[in-house]
Amino acid sequence: MNTDPNAPIGVFDSGIGGLTVAREIMRNLPAEKIVYFGDTARVPYGSKSRETVLRFSRQIIRFLLEQEVKAIVIACNTASSFALDAVRQEFSLPILGVIDAGTIVAAKETRNGRIGVIGTEGTIRSRIHEIFLKKLNPNVTVYGRPCPLFVPLVEEGWTHDPITREIAVRYLGELKEKDIDTLILGCTHYPLLRTLIQEVMGEHVRLVNPAYETSLELKSLLADNGLIRQGTDREEFPYRFFVSDLAEKFTMFANTILPYDVSMTQKIDIEKY
Ligand code: DGL
Repeated sequence: MNTDPNAPIGVFDSGIGGLTVAREIMRNLPAEKIVYFGDTARVPYGSKSRETVLRFSRQIIRFLLEQEVKAIVIACNTASSFALDAVRQEFSLPILGVIDAGTIVAAKETRNGRIGVIGTEGTIRSRIHEIFLKKLNPNVTVYGRPCPLFVPLVEEGWTHDPITREIAVRYLGELKEKDIDTLILGCTHYPLLRTLIQEVMGEHVRLVNPAYETSLELKSLLADNGLIRQGTDREEFPYRFFVSDLAEKFTMFANTILPYDVSMTQKIDIEKY
């Protein structure tokens, strides 16, 4: 384990979705260096089995360790649902997922105790948000709804397309009938559809994007381990981006999402790890 506070933080997702988490880390921990990996060759994770997602997660963690990261954020709900417990036991560095941050906020925010969760098929099938929420408050009722087409639509850049709206209306219709007052965006791609989801659900439903709280959780995790980076001279170490495919497309996307100028993304062979 790298115990040097100057070392970077590794952040990974199946594709571009984790950039919504990286964005919050950049805003709230501006001195920290980041190495991001997007598994663009193997996205989506949401329709794959636990074993496969666990194998992918292990490979990515081995790659990030080679980059000498001091901590890792699994910026993907599907990989957090399927792999977090296992990899925490297998690797000795601090590893954070994105599930508990969102559930803590949702449990606090709900007034009528009716909480919706949208995510990939894998995440919703695992019922992990429901398990966490029930531990926080056994009286809440949780309604999960997989929205499998959202990820390819986001990866395609169709965030403001009439087709995406029609699909959102169909997916979210049944949640609207459940009278939920809080909705967890349980997939890191979904904040990129936030405006649309809010319009479809109505203003009275509070949308929870776990990215912000995850960045705060990361801050305390680093502090607890004596790993907070001091100083502000991160400029000499630009954020670094790696993918398993389509590096240029990723660079283009990253520049629309991040408050940072991404000049290049490197493609690596993740199957080697
Ligand atoms: N962004 C990911 C998540 O949070 C996964 C999307 C996918 O690859 O299916 O679940």
